[in-house]
Amino acid sequence: MRYAALLLLATSVYAFEIPFFVPDFLKNHVLPPSTPIVEVKDDPPPTVPRIAIVGAGAGGSSAAFWISKAKSRFGLDVEVDVYDRNNYIGGRSTVVHPYNDTTLPELELGASIFVRANKNLWRASEEFNLTRRDFTEENYVVGLWDGQDVRFTFEGGWWGTLKVLWRYGMTSPKRVQGIVAEMLKTYVGLYSKDTPKWNNITRLSEKYGWTELTASSTMEYLVRKNVSPRYISELVEAATRTNYGQNTDYIHALEGMCSLATDGAAGISGGNYRIFEQFLQRSDAFVHLNANVNSILPSTDSKNWTVATSKGTQDYAAVILAAPFHFTDITVPHSISEQISNHPYVHLHVTLLTTTSEYPNPAYFNLPSSSKPARMMLTTYEGVRHGGLEPEFNSLSYHGLVRPGEWAVKIFSKSRISDQLLDSIFNGQVQWVYRKEWDSYPKLPPMESYPPVKLGQGFYYVNSFEPFISTMETETLSSRNIVDLLLDDLFNASICGPQITELTNITTTDKNDYVYGWDC
Ligand SMILES: Cc1cc2nc3c(=O)[nH]c(=O)nc-3n(C[C@H](O)[C@H](O)[C@H](O)COP(=O)(O)OP(=O)(O)OC[C@H]3O[C@@H](n4cnc5c(N)ncnc54)[C@H](O)[C@@H]3O)c2cc1C
Ligand SMILES: *[C@@H]1O[C@H](CO)[C@@H](O)[C@H](O)[C@H]1NC(C)=O
Ligand SMILES: *[C@@H]1O[C@H](CO)[C@@H](O)[C@H](O)[C@H]1NC(C)=O
Ligand SMILES: *[C@@H]1O[C@H](CO)[C@@H](O)[C@H](O)[C@H]1NC(C)=O
Ligand SMILES: *[C@@H]1O[C@H](CO)[C@@H](O)[C@H](O)[C@H]1NC(C)=O
Ligand SMILES: *[C@@H]1O[C@H](CO)[C@@H](O)[C@H](O)[C@H]1NC(C)=O
Ligand SMILES: *[C@@H]1O[C@H](CO)[C@@H](O)[C@H](O)[C@H]1NC(C)=O
Repeated sequence: MRYAALLLLATSVYAFEIPFFVPDFLKNHVLPPSTPIVEVKDDPPPTVPRIAIVGAGAGGSSAAFWISKAKSRFGLDVEVDVYDRNNYIGGRSTVVHPYNDTTLPELELGASIFVRANKNLWRASEEFNLTRRDFTEENYVVGLWDGQDVRFTFEGGWWGTLKVLWRYGMTSPKRVQGIVAEMLKTYVGLYSKDTPKWNNITRLSEKYGWTELTASSTMEYLVRKNVSPRYISELVEAATRTNYGQNTDYIHALEGMCSLATDGAAGISGGNYRIFEQFLQRSDAFVHLNANVNSILPSTDSKNWTVATSKGTQDYAAVILAAPFHFTDITVPHSISEQISNHPYVHLHVTLLTTTSEYPNPAYFNLPSSSKPARMMLTTYEGVRHGGLEPEFNSLSYHGLVRPGEWAVKIFSKSRISDQLLDSIFNGQVQWVYRKEWDSYPKLPPMESYPPVKLGQGFYYVNSFEPFISTMETETLSSRNIVDLLLDDLFNASICGPQITELTNITTTDKNDYVYGWDC
């Protein structure tokens, strides 16, 4: 891995309850409250098959976008309704502004980073003309805190690199870098012309040669590859704790390696949710916000799915569920629910704040009062394993100035960070505080099986992918696969044309930039 890349690891965190807004493009599509959908007249004609998408996050918004690609490519005639119970688009990707003041820079409350290898989000940011920002301005000194001591601090560049080599030697960092590179080389196959279509994630994992990675903890796997335990429990663990709130002796090695794949890290200026808003705007789907889906049951003639929502009831030829099932509280037939085990999620506390303290308080970190603690403090569980105290947070990172003399800070933790604790970390100089609890991502121990991709005839589950890999990008990959399965099942078609097997020629000038679904 590149050492400078480590500086980026702590920047992933999130949001909630942004002020209610309806983007202009939605205004025509949002039904007035209490208008039952069945009463919408003539629009569209009842003969057109409809598809319901539950969830307007990365998964649901991209599903609508993929369907629209098929509509525009070969005139597929379907109508799509997207439902989300939130009042905003983006789900676990959303922003807040300090003091709720939109003139101050936004802070990501949920997913903040994607990388160059994430070809769908990258491509979307280019096609939608969104500005990507990298995180170089946030290249603070990084510290590693074990709950009692700051074990290590380093900066990017030569000095940091030398210190890393001095502490861990050369072979461990090189070996880990090699494993990550190999994983990524396989991963990009998912964007190729001959990308597999999968209805079983275990088999996808087998096909990609990832079974050993998903069947082992990150620690077990890397020890087997002769990486030093110290490197794993310090530097690799800093990454898995920051990105997934889990330790290296718990999280499976595929997700562990994803935590380390930080080359070309970027975010969208204004908020990553803008990509998802664009997916929906360009899809021409009907978007229903503040619309809770209550049940999805077979229609009386059993030919369709009847979707009951807080805004009305409608029949659909197919349903795409793009939210973790057990958090949706949707009533479905037993034959559907029994297939999805109640996969536990990490319950993450995100604390956003501003402070006039340029550095954290050295006393909190048991450092001499003259020192300036790292402004990106990552953590290891290694202290606890040897009888020490547990760090009170997973990661703590400064995120630049919100205005002169006042810095934004993001903290991820397992439990609530009290006002008292904030005062002790920031010398009593805390200004604005915003707390949010998320069921952020699945707990990811070594896995043997995954939920089914297809839950029933015409019923598909995007978030089946999350216990395998949980990121914004992989949700767009899962939805792309599902839309292909759906189009094949219902219309003998695919995103790229009426025939699922034979794709047409590559259209981009640079074949290396070919991305399946965008280019056909
Ligand atoms: C703090 C945090 C940091 C993260 N950092 C990163 C990161 O840096 N990079 C990254 O790639 N990923 C990150 N992730 C993970 C990433 O956010 C998720 O993998 C991804 O956003 C999931 O998208 P989704 O569309 O599948 O689900 P969601 O975004 O959860 O969308 C599901 C939607 O369904 C809606 N819904 C649920 N039930 C119902 C119902 N009954 N009726 C109607 N609507 C319903 C919800 O309101 C929600 O909007 C992070 C997550 C968190 C929380
Ligand atoms: C933020 O401001 C908006 C618009 O001014 C308001 O509607 C909303 O309630 C505010 N949100 C919070 C959390 O104060
Ligand atoms: C219901 O299913 C039938 C048969 O598959 C299909 O023709 C029809 O379009 C579906 N209705 C809706 C509203 O999708
Ligand atoms: C893209 O955005 C830039 C800056 O906002 C603008 O100048 C340019 O015209 C936009 N291009 C397209 C194709 O929309
Ligand atoms: C997926 O495939 C694996 C291995 O072939 C099999 O054991 C499992 O039952 C399948 N899962 C589903 C949901 O079909
Ligand atoms: C599906 O489409 C292909 C190619 O257009 C065609 O050859 C085949 O007969 C179709 N199958 C069905 C069941 O319609
Ligand atoms: C597609 O590629 C093949 C082989 O390179 C070529 O013969 C054919 O003319 C191309 N078709 C189109 C429509 O460009």
